[in-house]
Amino acid sequence: MKQARTTIIAGNWKMNYGPSRAAQFTMEILPQLNQITHHDYNLLCILCPPAISIPAVHQLLHMGRYTHIELGAQNMYFEEQGAFTGELSPHMVRELCSTVILGHSERRMYFGETDEQVHKKTLAAFKHGLRPIVCIGENLAQYEAGQTEQVIRTQVQGALAQLPEEKLGDLVVAYEPIWAIGTGRAATPEIAGNVTGLIRQLYGEMYGHEAAAALHILYGGSVTVANIGTFIIHPEIDGALVGGASLKPDFVELVRQAAESSLL
Ligand code: PGA
Repeated sequence: MKQARTTIIAGNWKMNYGPSRAAQFTMEILPQLNQITHHDYNLLCILCPPAISIPAVHQLLHMGRYTHIELGAQNMYFEEQGAFTGELSPHMVRELCSTVILGHSERRMYFGETDEQVHKKTLAAFKHGLRPIVCIGENLAQYEAGQTEQVIRTQVQGALAQLPEEKLGDLVVAYEPIWAIGTGRAATPEIAGNVTGLIRQLYGEMYGHEAAAALHILYGGSVTVANIGTFIIHPEIDGALVGGASLKPDFVELVRQAAESSLL
């Protein structure tokens, strides 16, 4: 029997779909997505379009008042306001979104984000009532050198230490091995489950057993319709952060598979 934690499927559209295409795609998937999430499945679906497309998707979601389909941003800055050209403040994100992805490996790799910045952003998200999805994961060289545990430990301690205990219930962590992202080479459920278990253990050492048992941990990296069920049935894995497969109409099918598998 799967644990009582809500299953979360977040679609990270990355730098795809401007406002018109985003609206068109959302209209395409929304009726069916709503049918699935409206069932009594304990499932939450979060769409994360590029920042400029968030208002277009928000408008469509708002019109239908889809309670189990929410909106997320892919990044934000931690400062409240000011001279930070190109950035979005937590307050701005919160106007339209419930959630924000933080520390995605592409942000770390191409834009130099550090655990320290991710930590500040996580605190800022909490302060503004946003649900942070904090991404961590090792790269291929680290994986092959057997350094996964060390890398995860460093990232968990760097990004997730000293968080306000009363906000911990909002936190979502995504384990995304970089070697699995966009490569078509997903981790096996065993590998993903072992690392999510490790994350839960490290988190428990910081915040105690109860907080660790309540923490939502997602897997991300080449998740597809074909493999989503195998991750969801793993007791340590509470959902998925989906990139490429969230851009296609059969994302609906992926969400359906996740919903059904979460009942097994
Ligand atoms: P992918 O991306 O599903 O295309 O591998 C996952 C992610 O980067 O969140």
